[in-house]
Amino acid sequence: MTTKMLIGAMFALILSSLGALAETRLSTIDVGQRIYQRNCLHCHGVRLDGKGPDAASLSVPPASFHTYLSRLKDDAELAKLIKQGKQFLGMHNWEDTLTEEQVQDLIAYIRSAAPHVKVKP
Ligand code: HEC
Repeated sequence: MTTKMLIGAMFALILSSLGALAETRLSTIDVGQRIYQRNCLHCHGVRLDGKGPDAASLSVPPASFHTYLSRLKDDAELAKLIKQGKQFLGMHNWEDTLTEEQVQDLIAYIRSAAPHVKVKP
């Protein structure tokens, strides 16, 4: 094997491992799902239907993101609700806990399971 070939082989190896690294990077939706599982699932549920394990202990049930009313909300409305919470209803405000990027990741995840519906004017 010549030195040139050896260098070529090493380059190929480095390039393929870089490719593998890129593949393991999570999509925005996957990142959002992780944040959801850690912070929201115990109330809003695995299926985003508001039936998480802690839902029974709340006087107001957590929102199901599949309802028409919830899907009517645009991204900005969802972001506002997540950041500000709903006082007296058991929905925390997440403004101080999550970054803007994390809120957007969460919305991407919620949208993937319960897409936004637009009403024609
Ligand atoms: C302690 C339980 C609890 C946790 C944890 C929780 N929520 Fe909620 N959430 C609620 C309740 C209760 C409501 C109010 C339901 C209503 O208004 O009918 C709500 C409402 C919402 C709404 C408004 C939905 C709509 O259509 O009106 C959004 C969006 C939301 N939650 C997102 C989240 C996200 C994202 C997280 C995690 C970062 C989270 N929630 C964590 C209990 C919780």
